[in-house]
This record gives sequence, structure tokens and C-alpha cells, in this order.
Amino acid sequence: MQNTLGYPFSALATRRTKWRGGLAAAALLAPTLLAGCGGRQDTLDPHSHASADIANLFWVMTAVAFGGLALVTALLVWAWVRRGTRGFGSDPDDPHPGEKPAWFVVVGMGVVFPLTVIVALFIVANGAIISVTQAPAASSTAMTVKAIGHEWYWEFRYPGTKAVTAGEMHIPVDTRINLVGTTADVIHSFWVPELNRKIDTIPGRNNRILLYANKTGVYRGQCAEFCGLQHTHMGMLVFVQTKAQFEAWLRKQAAPAAKPTTPAARRGEQVFLNGACSSCHAIRGTSARGFVGPDLTHLASRTTLGSVTIPNSRNYLARWIVDSQHYKPGNQMPNFHLPASQLGPLVDYLESLR
Ligand code: CUA
Repeated sequence: MQNTLGYPFSALATRRTKWRGGLAAAALLAPTLLAGCGGRQDTLDPHSHASADIANLFWVMTAVAFGGLALVTALLVWAWVRRGTRGFGSDPDDPHPGEKPAWFVVVGMGVVFPLTVIVALFIVANGAIISVTQAPAASSTAMTVKAIGHEWYWEFRYPGTKAVTAGEMHIPVDTRINLVGTTADVIHSFWVPELNRKIDTIPGRNNRILLYANKTGVYRGQCAEFCGLQHTHMGMLVFVQTKAQFEAWLRKQAAPAAKPTTPAARRGEQVFLNGACSSCHAIRGTSARGFVGPDLTHLASRTTLGSVTIPNSRNYLARWIVDSQHYKPGNQMPNFHLPASQLGPLVDYLESLR
């Protein structure tokens, strides 16, 4: 399932660029590069009113900027073509034509025109900023989701339930959600470009934003404030589901972990609870209550690991446990060089946490 969702894993997205074809190929590739590397993380593909306002503002600003550039370029070309001729609007009896400025050109094109354009742009931008930036009235939203930044992953809580997840959040479609952003350590920035603007998560503060999606699907988000070594690998996925699907998901996430049913998974649970894992991770329904790393109660229900760095498959999970520093150098989980006799059962157990 991990590879059919259509978003790029950053670990898999590393591409070798071949220079064959030289500049021509680079010129052909430029639009592709400028358009981003695909996946659902495109500011100009809005899926909410707020992100549509942001995209429209971008296009208005771009159109006016290019209009200005075209106008100035045309005036320069015109001046060059008319070089040496009599100044526009100057006195025909002037013995030194072209030396006196035509005042209406200077005042009109140099002051009145740009001021009018800039004031108009300000009014348009201000309208978009007000509609986008204002936190939603609490009564206008159907539910609250708390996004907590950690070095380096996103934790999501659903107040009123016991559900806690990491890296991947789920929300119902066409529903106004009060997203509360905060942090457990440094300043991060919550950003899902297709759904709304960025919102900083600041120690001791709860910043709020409206989260809304008009279409089901998977939207990629990214920490947008430099927060340390693995800032780049602080992605998130927002799964927008039908209301029924979402409610089923939330019920499952709020429940404690299932008891392991196979002998290997039971052995794995003991490895987890008696080893170092439980001092940093929580699994609700067991004695593991660590809070340094992500809550793993329903780890196996997620599609990715390490904040959308690698797919959540048996193979990658085992490699992550053995050598997480390879995938996210500097992350707080040390490499556990577990013997195969412990690693296999541990992975069996973690894979059973659906
Ligand atoms: Cu968290 Cu950048």
C-alpha cells in the first residue's frame, strides 16, 4: 500500500541527475523543477478556501509584477528607438530637445501610476490575509486536533479521546477543524500547503488555524521553520477521509494496544517492555509510558516511519530499529544493535500494533 499513494518518500526521492544533453536538457527540465517534485504538496493546487485565497493572491501578484516588467521593458525599448529625437511633450522651439523632462510623464508614470497599483495590491493582499490568517471562531469548528512539534516529528492528539499518533494525522472531509499548534521543544512550523498557510508552534503558546479539506486524499505537509539537524525530515501526511471512515479510524486509535497473539510477538513485547524501547516510547495498554519518541500504540496502522522518511514495512522497520541514525542522523533514538533473536520478535510485536 505504501507505494501506491502517489507521494514521494524523501529517502526514495533522491535522484541522480545526468548531465547528458547539457544546457538544453536543463532548460527543458526547468519547468518541472520549478513545479516541484510531484506528490500532494502544491501551494498552487488548493483544496480549501484559505489555500485558494493564497493561490489567487500569488497569481494576482505575479500577473501585476510581470505586467510592470513588460511595461518598463516596453518603455526602455521605445526610448531606445526614439533616441536622438525630440523629447515627448517638450516645447517644439526648444533648441535642446529632450533635455527637459515631460512632467506629466514623470509625475503620472513615476508617482501616480505606481502608487495606484501598489495601493490596489495592498487592498487585495490585505483582504486575502484577513480571510486566511484569522483563527477560526471555536464555535464554527466541528472538532479540535492538536499538533505538537518535536525534534523531529509531529505528534497529533484528538482532545476528548485518548488517540495519539505521529507523523500521520487523519481528518474528515468538508469539516472545519480547529488546529491547535504547539511544541514540546523548539519552534517548528506546521504547514500543509494545499490546505492552509503556515503556523508557527512556539513554546508556551497555542496558535490556532483552520484546517479544512474539500476532497478526500493524502496531503503532504512539512515543518517550515528550521528546527535543527533533521528539519528537512520532519514531514507529515494528512489523510482526509469520509466522515464514517474517519470515525472508525479515530475509535481504533483511541483504543489501547491489542495484546500480542503469537508466541513470537509475545516475546517481542517483553523485549520492548524490558529493554530500552519503553523508556522513550509509550504503548497505551502496557507499562510503556515514555514520551521522548512517538506513541507506538497503533504503529502498524501508519504508512510511513520517521516522519514520512521511509515506508512502514517490516524490512524498513527492522532497519530503522537497528540503524535509525542512517535514515535520520542526529535523531534522539540511538542505534540498537539487537541480536536477530530479539529483533525478529520485536518487529513481530510492533507489526501487530494495528
Ligand atoms: Cu521542525 Cu523544522
